[in-house]
Amino acid sequence: MEQTIRFTLNGKKTEILIDPNFTLLWVLRTKFGLTGTKYGCGMGFCGSCTVLLDQEAVRSCTLPISDIAGKKIITIEGLSKNGKLHPVQQAFVDND
Ligand code: FES
Repeated sequence: MEQTIRFTLNGKKTEILIDPNFTLLWVLRTKFGLTGTKYGCGMGFCGSCTVLLDQEAVRSCTLPISDIAGKKIITIEGLSKNGKLHPVQQAFVDND
């Protein structure tokens, strides 16, 4: 059964009606188009799906979307400030 999940995504209040068992990674990529968060192992080992959850790094591939209700998520797309790339974003650009 779908639920409305409300949270803050890259500084913007957001809500989505969705099956609460879907992973945050899948929701970010397919529902919000935030493809900077990558799928690697899908088991919480590699870190390619890492996002900030209330300023703490978490693996989004194993995190149910229901666990982020009322919390703040920052993806790599949300790291830039004042039009300038964050050092992590710049590293991705520099290293392809
Ligand atoms: Fe590897 Fe999430 S995809 S830790």
